[in-house]
Amino acid sequence: MLSLSVGQLLTLKVENLSFGGGRGVARHQGFVIFIPYVLPDEVVQVKVQKIKKTFAEAELIKIIEASSERVKPPCKYFEICGGCVWQHIKYEKQLEYKQQLYIHFLKDFPEVKILDIQGSDFEYHYRNRIQVQVLEGKVGFHQRKSHDMIEVDTCLIAENEINNHLDRLKSMKSGRYEIYRDPENYNILHRSQKNKSEALTFSQVNERQNKKICNELIAWSSQIKSQKILELFCGAGNFSFPLLKAQPHRQLVGVDGSSFLINKAKSYSNERSKFLKADLNSHFVSKNFSHEHFDLVLVDPPRVGCTKDLLTDICKLQPDNIIYISCNPSTLARDLHLLSQHNYKPIKSQAFDMFPQTDHIESMTLVSKK
Ligand SMILES: C[S@@+](CC[C@H](N)C(=O)[O-])C[C@H]1O[C@@H](n2cnc3c(N)ncnc32)[C@H](O)[C@@H]1O
Repeated sequence: MLSLSVGQLLTLKVENLSFGGGRGVARHQGFVIFIPYVLPDEVVQVKVQKIKKTFAEAELIKIIEASSERVKPPCKYFEICGGCVWQHIKYEKQLEYKQQLYIHFLKDFPEVKILDIQGSDFEYHYRNRIQVQVLEGKVGFHQRKSHDMIEVDTCLIAENEINNHLDRLKSMKSGRYEIYRDPENYNILHRSQKNKSEALTFSQVNERQNKKICNELIAWSSQIKSQKILELFCGAGNFSFPLLKAQPHRQLVGVDGSSFLINKAKSYSNERSKFLKADLNSHFVSKNFSHEHFDLVLVDPPRVGCTKDLLTDICKLQPDNIIYISCNPSTLARDLHLLSQHNYKPIKSQAFDMFPQTDHIESMTLVSKK
């Protein structure tokens, strides 16, 4: 019988890293224990914090045998702030772990060609927007596993100019704010997160990595004979416009639920593109496009992925190819299973490290009709 209690001290060897927090996985009498801020093969002393039905959580007390891949985390708030989880791991090794995790997510599709992950040119200072808390003249982030705030004077994954803006928020009313680089004029601005429509103004956080995805998307789609593209979750046209610019023979219809983003896209559109504001969880695709043919459907949904209904509606359009850009490999794998029930199979897939120092994985997958 398992002998495990909250507060118990254990010495464990870490087996691997898990997705969804980037914690280490170790076992006590075969029972899984998650431990933050460790590396595979390390021997660590931990204190059990929570015991659930199928796993337990423990906090790191002492590293007994450190991994040679361990580095000193450069941020003074690491382990207190809830943002980064992998600053203690050499960047090249972070990429290896992400690639391994990504391959594991796609393990049910042995036929898919998984290309090497594209690393980020900047390991730090890559974010062009961050969300902060303002409380009685102090600016900071949520502490890990808590609603308390930790006051910060810098965030090492944010661009330097974003950090230079932190002080300006001290005079603002208490609340949540986003500091961001305006993609149009490159100015650094802030906005309250109270206003729902403003909060819906999605943009990619890592511009250089975003460019790499755009370039790959152009290269992959140039291999596909297609006249008309349907782009779902198109935002303000982050992918649409580079695609149309590189491939002047194409037309594109873009759909997104944010009126702010769609209006922005409309302001740049021309006779080859059309942008529509719609909720994609309401059979919009089958109601509006069932008589149109698209050779390529591009989707870039939020972390929850696509709904079953949306995927079914896309498959009914019978496009030869679907390119799926994902920020969550877990919902991507679920959606690929659904697509394969509709006779579509993933052909090739690649991860892109948009978020160094975290376990988040962005990726792009080409899915074709069987
Ligand atoms: C990951 S972002 C991608 C945006 C765009 N492709 C880009 O790269 O900037 C997901 C997008 O889905 C949109 N969205 C979320 N839920 C939606 C829904 N139910 N219907 C339509 N659009 C939705 C958001 O407004 C957001 O623009």
